[in-house]
Amino acid sequence: MSDSINYRPITAERYISHDYMLKEREKIWARTWLVAGLVQDVEEPGDFFVFDLEPESIIVSRSETGELNAFFNVCQHRGARVLLTERGNMAAYTCPYHGWVYNNDGDLAFVPDEDRFSRGLPKDRLGLKAIRVDTWGGMVWICMDSEAPSLQDYLGPVMDLVSPFRPEDMRLVEDQTCRLECNWKAVFDNFGELYHVEHIHPQHELIFDCPTSTAEYFPYGHTRVLIDGFTVNSRLPIPEEVPATQWAQLEALGMDKDDYKGRVLDVRQDIQIKKREMGPALGYNYDLLSDEQLSDIVQYNIFPNAVLVLQPEEFWILRSRPRAGDPNKCYWDKLALRMLPDIEIKKNAKIKFPPLQNRANVSFNLDQTGDGAARPEHDEFDQEAIIAGEKTMTITLDQDIHLIRDVQRGMHSRGFGEAWLCDDESRIQHYHNTIDTFMCD
Ligand code: FES
Ligand SMILES: [Fe+2]
Repeated sequence: MSDSINYRPITAERYISHDYMLKEREKIWARTWLVAGLVQDVEEPGDFFVFDLEPESIIVSRSETGELNAFFNVCQHRGARVLLTERGNMAAYTCPYHGWVYNNDGDLAFVPDEDRFSRGLPKDRLGLKAIRVDTWGGMVWICMDSEAPSLQDYLGPVMDLVSPFRPEDMRLVEDQTCRLECNWKAVFDNFGELYHVEHIHPQHELIFDCPTSTAEYFPYGHTRVLIDGFTVNSRLPIPEEVPATQWAQLEALGMDKDDYKGRVLDVRQDIQIKKREMGPALGYNYDLLSDEQLSDIVQYNIFPNAVLVLQPEEFWILRSRPRAGDPNKCYWDKLALRMLPDIEIKKNAKIKFPPLQNRANVSFNLDQTGDGAARPEHDEFDQEAIIAGEKTMTITLDQDIHLIRDVQRGMHSRGFGEAWLCDDESRIQHYHNTIDTFMCD
């Protein structure tokens, strides 16, 4: 374990205790910056979306004057939820209970039978209750704590490290939520280590080298891990031929897999060279990215509940949220965004490249299907739909989902004392040490 990580016990309580869950509402959710949604969903005046973080519900809206606001989704009359829809465009919101009307800047605009409030009706004090909102990386962030540091201070070095990927220029292509039967931290832990990858994600051995990954730790419990891509697991024999998992990507870049017989480890560097060379013809601007960033994958775990997975052409936001007032349940969101090829860059490219073909096997990178014009529908389903093979969040996430409910079951056993982490799980320790700091503060 890294010298900078202090070991502290991680017991089952934080995953199964109802009291612990209630305390998290005050100590964690109410005090941290959280990914509420996407800027692209609130680009126009009147656009809004609702971010549910049980028991809270938060409205993020773009006012008529173009200002971005966030409010608790609760009527100041008798506490009803004002908006029951996920997303849309409205100039004003009418509470479904007695018809109080709020403008999309939060002001209370109209109260039916106002003259029946003989006690008075201080409309300027009865607007929707505002909370802090900010944007970064194409994401809308909210914070319920007026005393918390700024988003910039909270994310610290993460902002500059992520910026070359230009996530704000990517468009949403998939919007899914799976209802998991586990604590929201149990699924987050799963993304805090690569120790399990060799056991449950065999396909990764033939495109990533997890054993040589590099972990880094940031203030406020954030971490990142850098993983070499377009290579193979360095603990296994090097295959003679390029694994099939990489073929489509090579083809997309005009590379012949047969050229790499007996020298599979050269693919990674050549991918970097080819992307640099072919980027403009494919409509991608790779200028801000390093060579390693062109071939590899980087994942940021943002405290307390967001995982950002970045590649030059694709960005995943994975997010866990508590569910149903039950520590054994959570929502697991996946927002997949894609850098859409830029027609202008393509037009000006000196190299002309034939259209991509045979992309059926492409799971990430250079997959130019979908034009990002129409927002995908939000699809929400139970984990059983994944287990039955009726839904997928990609093979890798599906494999994780198969496992995670049994971890939660195990946490209820009298036979479980505390987690015993290995060196490769030190990001989990860093994360839980921050949990402890917030919970005890
Ligand atoms: S609770 Fe909203 S109008 Fe009465
Ligand atoms: Fe996994």
